[in-house]
Amino acid sequence: MCEKENRFIEKGIARSYTNDAHLIVPVYNRIQDKKIEIASNILEEPNIMMDLGSGGGGFIKKFLIKYPHCKAVAVDSSTSMLEVAKERLKDFKDRITYLERDISSCEWTKVLEVGFEFITSDHTIHHLRHNEKKQLYSQVYNLLNNGGLFIHADEIMASSHRLQKYYLEMWDKHVRKYWNDLSYDSRKIWEKWYQRNIKDYGGAEQREKDIWASLDFHVESLRHVGFKDVECYFKDNIWAVFGGIKEI
Ligand SMILES: C[S@@+](CC[C@H](N)C(=O)[O-])C[C@H]1O[C@@H](n2cnc3c(N)ncnc32)[C@H](O)[C@@H]1O
Repeated sequence: MCEKENRFIEKGIARSYTNDAHLIVPVYNRIQDKKIEIASNILEEPNIMMDLGSGGGGFIKKFLIKYPHCKAVAVDSSTSMLEVAKERLKDFKDRITYLERDISSCEWTKVLEVGFEFITSDHTIHHLRHNEKKQLYSQVYNLLNNGGLFIHADEIMASSHRLQKYYLEMWDKHVRKYWNDLSYDSRKIWEKWYQRNIKDYGGAEQREKDIWASLDFHVESLRHVGFKDVECYFKDNIWAVFGGIKEI
């Protein structure tokens, strides 16, 4: 329905990323745990949350276990990813609604009821162009309840290219340590990632696919659309977890 160019549209890749993400991203689980820690500090028992670019649904699973009365909306533009999530989260039955939507579009929120208490996204928004990121922040703000929380965890741009390259090289070193544990598809994707982000750093393909923005850009854009208490909750190499509260 809305599969904008996205490597996760291939079923094999959707499945292997979901299985291997905790090995590929060194802070994968820490990020999820930090988000839950912050959310439980700021929100009372949430009833409804939304995950943007929800992938195989790992974060939703953790969140719904922590909050047994909460329901979730899983948004992803990849049919294959949504199928993987449905299979893995089948025990949660009607607590999860699956939405195939491209979050870079200006109309993906049409017909959605507003009133979310928590909206979040991991490792996805850096694929959107900067103007689309700003548009998304405004859409998220409108979807939240008064008092609602948004947390975004993602790859960001360091304060210099030199530092960014260093972080990327560190990431590659980490992945090579787990090379033999990765699936064939994950290794294939990683080799392409290596070519694009390390060998051709700054090249057209990298700029098109991994459109990193600085932490300042994110924080200022969140404030600009009205978020309060905007804060970076965690940072490690190129990963950051940050967000804000809608308070009218
Ligand atoms: C790197 S995966 C991360 C998945 C999940 N958040 C996680 O932490 O494991 C990125 C996800 O974002 C989805 N995605 C990429 N671009 C998207 C877009 N424009 N709209 C909606 N989903 C998108 C992909 O299909 C994929 O499932």
